[in-house]
Amino acid sequence: LRIAVLASGRGSNLQAIVDAIDAGTLDAEVTGVWSDRGDAQALARARGAGIPARAMRPRDFADRPSHDSAMFDAIDADDPDLIVCAGYMRLIGAHVLASRAGRLINIHPSLLPAFKGLHTHQRALEAGVAEHGGSVHFVTAELDGGPVIAQARVPVLADDDAARLAARVLAREHPLLLETLRWIAAGRVRWQADGVHVDGRMA
Ligand code: GRF
Repeated sequence: LRIAVLASGRGSNLQAIVDAIDAGTLDAEVTGVWSDRGDAQALARARGAGIPARAMRPRDFADRPSHDSAMFDAIDADDPDLIVCAGYMRLIGAHVLASRAGRLINIHPSLLPAFKGLHTHQRALEAGVAEHGGSVHFVTAELDGGPVIAQARVPVLADDDAARLAARVLAREHPLLLETLRWIAAGRVRWQADGVHVDGRMA
């Protein structure tokens, strides 16, 4: 499985992918890491692993659609099977998504459809939910709204603050993303008109 990764920040999910490939537990190759921020730690992690890494800053482009187009055309030049948004903090325009439906996934730190968008851990605490977690989903033009492939759940504990809860979720995000990538690599995941199928069954 040839994977391109988009990341805006820390890059711990990218690192989990790189480490799993190195360890031989994920049969994949990262074709490149892309960011909207030159200072993203994810870029440094990629370079450290010998993976091509490139920032394309939105302010260097005339408008949002031209930034999206330039970045996704460059990504596709490497011919990835899958594009993984791992902490990529920008909305992606419908015009680039249309031709890439089913080839783009995102990891989001909530049990979607709950808590789309930002500050998910704080919002989960404020809502008083007993369970929280992470989701991997196909990307559509609706923010965090595409069909969910897989989720990991964690309990919310009485003395949690947002940082503690975030750490508990992140520890589950990494194996969740890796497991999803293994399923995709094995051809077990399909997104059809009626939804996501894993091994022929609705996810
Ligand atoms: C993760 O919590 C991910 O779910 C969210 O942003 C965070 C990225 O973390 N979309 P990292 O950059 O992979 O460390």
